Parts: sequence; C-alpha cells; structure tokens
Amino acid sequence: MRVLVTGGAGFIGSNLTLELQKRYPDWEIFVLDDFSKGTFKNLIEFEGEVITGSITEPETLEKLRKYNFDAILHQAANVDTTDMNQQRMMEVNSEAFKDLLELVRESKGRMVYASSAAVYGNTPPPMRVKSGLKPENVYGYSKLAMDRYAYRFMAENPKIPVVGLRYFNVYGPRETHKGKMASMVLQLTVQILKGKRPRLFKWGEQKRDFVYVMDCVEANIRGLFAEKSGVVNVGTGRARTFNEVVEIIKKTLGVDVETEYFDNPYDFYQNYTEADLTETKEILGWYPTVQIEEGIPLYVNWIKENVNWEKLPY
Ligand SMILES: NC(=O)c1ccc[n+]([C@@H]2O[C@H](COP(=O)([O-])OP(=O)(O)OC[C@H]3O[C@@H](n4cnc5c(N)ncnc54)[C@H](O)[C@@H]3O)[C@@H](O)[C@H]2O)c1
Repeated sequence: MRVLVTGGAGFIGSNLTLELQKRYPDWEIFVLDDFSKGTFKNLIEFEGEVITGSITEPETLEKLRKYNFDAILHQAANVDTTDMNQQRMMEVNSEAFKDLLELVRESKGRMVYASSAAVYGNTPPPMRVKSGLKPENVYGYSKLAMDRYAYRFMAENPKIPVVGLRYFNVYGPRETHKGKMASMVLQLTVQILKGKRPRLFKWGEQKRDFVYVMDCVEANIRGLFAEKSGVVNVGTGRARTFNEVVEIIKKTLGVDVETEYFDNPYDFYQNYTEADLTETKEILGWYPTVQIEEGIPLYVNWIKENVNWEKLPY
C-alpha cells in the first residue's frame, strides 16, 4: 500500500504518520507538507520520504501525480479559525482539495480527509452530519465546501471511497507549534505549570466535545478500510465544560489555583459542541471513546516530560 499523509509535519498528521509507520511496516508511507506551520521536529522519527511543497501549487500536484498513491490522508489546511482572508482560506482548504480528489480519481485510490465541527457553528447540539450546517467563520465554510464537493465526487465516482472526518476539539501530543490555535488543554496546562492562574472566557461553562488525538488517528485508519463513503463526526459524543478541563489538569498536576475569567473578544464562538456519532459507527464501525478523565492526564504527563513549556507563549 502506498499512502500519502498531507500536513504530515502538523499535529494530527504527524501522529497519524508515526502510527501508520508503526502499525504497517510493509507500507510505503509518504508525507507532504509545506512546513508553513508544522515542524520538522514532529517528523524526526519518520523514516519515509518527505515531499516539500504547497498543495496550492501546480508543481506540487504534478510531483504527487507520479506516485500513484493508493490512498491520500489529507490533513493539510489553513487551520487558523480567526483568519478573515476568505480567498486564502478557500484556496488552501477547498480549492486544493478538489485537485487532490482528482489525483485519487486518476490513481483509482481512496481519500480520507479532515473536515471540522466548525461546519456546525452554533447550531443546537448534538451536531448531526446532515443538518445544522451554519458555519460562523470562513474556516468553517471552507470545510463545508470541501464536504459538499466530496459528496458530489462520491456520487460521480461510486467506486472510489471517500471519507470525511469532522474532528471536534482535538488535544494531545505534538501540537506545540500551533500557538494560539493549540488546544486549550495545552494552553491551560502550561499556564498552571508556569505558576499562573488558568485563563478562561467568562464563566468557563461553554461546552466542547474534546477528542484525544489518537482517536482521530484511529478514525483515519478506519477510514482507510471503510467500505462505504461518507462524512462522519469525530468526537466523543459527550460535551464537557472548560471548567471541568481545568479541574482535571489541576488534579493531574496536584496544584490548586483559582481560574481567572475574562471577556470573550470574539464575535463568533462555538458555545456548545457535541458530536452525534450515528454515521461514525455506521461507516467506520467504531467511534472515539477516550474521555477527558483518561486523555487529559495522559497528555499532561506527556507535556511535563517532552515539552519545553517555559518557552511557550501562554
Ligand atoms: N486540531 C483540531 O482540533 C482540529 C479540529 C477540526 C479540524 N481539524 C483539521 O485537521 C487537520 C489537521 O489540523 P492540525 O490541528 O494537525 O493542524 P496543523 O497546523 O498542526 O497541521 C496542518 C499542517 O498542514 C501544513 N500546511 C498548511 N498549509 C499547507 C499547504 N498549503 N500545503 C502543504 N501543507 C500545508 C502545515 O504546515 C501543518 O503541518 C486540518 O485540516 C484541520 O483543519 C483540526
């Protein structure tokens, strides 16, 4: 099997690449990244070929065409949800995706790609795949445009499996390059490790469906073997508050400190997300199960051992 992970130097992409390398030593695994956001440090243990280039550049697509991939696991994207440059967002996320689907059509391979819970905006939970599609920002819209294009492609190419994964709030190792886009689990853990008060938007009761990165990796791998095409949610199915997240981090670190609450400066903000997992079960035959009581301590201990947290800007 010859597999390409786009965005392989990034957070989810690097976890996925390293897991594929470990699980399938006979496969040929390739990474594509333009290294605009991801870091080489995430790929130090990766022994396969790294292709450097942007998915928006025709030369990159020409290069990729020659490999005839059996599968593309597409994670590369402009992930800055606060970026208001609509043209840039649409070109990197939606437009480049069409070109990658064309590659998959030519090679008769398959596509698993990263969509996002941002397609739902502030629609009432639980978020169901087919309804409540009201993104609040152009990032969410760019992912919705990808999903719509994918549905059209699925209808036109029924023999080519395509699986879209709408990740909810992902947390876990290898995201320290993400700055303000890193998970709140990382940001809050670093604040507490530095002896600061953890900072939350008033009053920390907003709810999110927090999903551990290795569950997202598993969803991608299940997507590689899925017999049916479709778009699925990748969350735990259980929304939790930011206050609960802080409590688990404090308990793991053995620290007691009060939270500092401040006004939310954003006009658009998802106050409550929770995944409905009907299609996840049906198409992947599985759904994520790591709840924050298990995932956060795993991650916090990883941060303590592996991250130069004094240098992080939180
Ligand atoms: N992390 C989350 O909570 C989350 C939630 C929902 C969806 N997603 C989606 O998951 C995917 C992976 O996100 P992540 O959190 O790992 O982010 P990340 O920024 O760590 O990874 C994205 C990678 O893509 C690369 N990249 C960006 N533009 C590129 C381009 N034009 N050409 C080639 N490479 C490019 C970056 O250098 C980076 O390595 C993205 O599609 C993102 O939209 C993530």
